[in-house]
Parts: sequence; C-alpha cells; structure tokens
Amino acid sequence: MTFNLEKLPPGDRYRILASLVTPRPIAWVTTCDQDGRTNAAPYSFFNVFGSNPPIVAFAPGNKDRSTPKDTARNIRETGEFVVHMVDEPLGEVMVATSATLPHGESELDLHTLATLPSEKVKVPRIADAPVALECTEHSTIEIGSNRLIIGIVHFVHVREGLMDEKGYLRHDSYHPLGRMSAPDWYSRTNDQYEIPRPD
Ligand SMILES: Cc1cc2nc3c(=O)[nH]c(=O)nc-3n(C[C@H](O)[C@H](O)[C@H](O)COP(=O)(O)O)c2cc1C
Repeated sequence: MTFNLEKLPPGDRYRILASLVTPRPIAWVTTCDQDGRTNAAPYSFFNVFGSNPPIVAFAPGNKDRSTPKDTARNIRETGEFVVHMVDEPLGEVMVATSATLPHGESELDLHTLATLPSEKVKVPRIADAPVALECTEHSTIEIGSNRLIIGIVHFVHVREGLMDEKGYLRHDSYHPLGRMSAPDWYSRTNDQYEIPRPD
C-alpha cells in the first residue's frame, strides 16, 4: 500500500505515522507553570539529538489550532522541564497522566507520584523514574499545529544500580518501554542483543 499524506486527513496521517515509526522512546515530562503548579504528561514524538551540546526534542501537538498543551504552555512560561524515561512498572501511571486535566491541576498530585528536587531547574523530578534529564528550553519551533520543543540537558539522574562503577549501562537492568502502534500499544525491551559494527 502507498499513502499520499497530502490527501489524507490529519487523524489518518497520525495513525499511519505513529503506528509505523516505532518503537519510539517515551518522554514523561514534568513542568511547572509560572505559579509553581506541577504538571506531568507523556510524549513519544521524542528523542535525543546530540551530545555537544546535549539536546533532546519532543513535539506536543496543539490542543486546537493555536492553544498549546499544558506542557508546552508551562515551558513557554518558565523555560524548564524534566524528561523521564519510563519502564514497565511505571507504564500504567504514565498512561494515566496523559488524561487532559484543567490547567493548573497536577497529575503528580492526582496519582500521588513522589518527587525529588532537581539540581538546576525548579521543576521536580519523579522519584521512581529510572532516568531523569533536567532540561532548559533552547527553542521552540512551531510547524502547523506542532510545537517542536528543543531542550539542553544539564543533569542526568540514573536509578541506583543501572550503571556500573565506570558509568556504563548494565544492559540487563534497564528496560525502558517503547511506544508501538497508536494509540495503545507498547513494547518491552528485555530481549536485547548486540550487532558489532565493522572496523
Ligand atoms: C505514551 C503516550 C505518548 C504521547 N505522545 C504524545 C506526543 O508525542 N505529542 C502529543 O501532543 N501528545 C502525546 N500524547 C498525548 C498527551 O500525553 C496528552 O495530550 C496529555 O493530556 C498532554 O498533557 P498536558 O496538556 O498536561 O501537556 C501521548 C500520550 C501517551 C499515552
């Protein structure tokens, strides 16, 4: 089958792309609004895009033609966010935080998610997440009803035991979830293998 995306409505374009370009990592993003009220939501249009400087990007779609989702609105107000990776025990609550709450109501409070203070940003981080990346906004590019938020990563917090004493990942200990076919499918990552590169 061949799809001409120019001739399809946005919902079909989303379903096709979001189901086929998989697995995607999931950014579970915490933010605060200008009054310090916390917010958490997952975003799987997400990845890391470089290390010098260390950058991540994720893409909240607008609520309607021009209204940003709370995460994007808060980042516009404060310029700060924390990206968390999600593993299987956190999968259900991560999805629960995708429900649309009125602006200012906290998914962290609603789901009694414990937090820890961050080092650089005012946004708290989720204590149980295996990985947390403290970020400041580098820039936000608006393309149609998408906002591509690019962040600089300042601190990386890793759950005790995931890295060895030299700072290398223990592959058998880290199993982030992958986002699969839209809207509700996920993959486990506990069947990893190695393909050495050519010299
Ligand atoms: C696993 C998962 C991934 C998601 N990825 C995105 C995404 O990349 N972009 C987006 O706009 N919404 C995405 N959503 C939907 C948002 O999480 C949802 O709209 C949420 O209510 C936004 O919350 P906020 O307004 O507090 O930022 C995703 C939902 C789930 C469950």
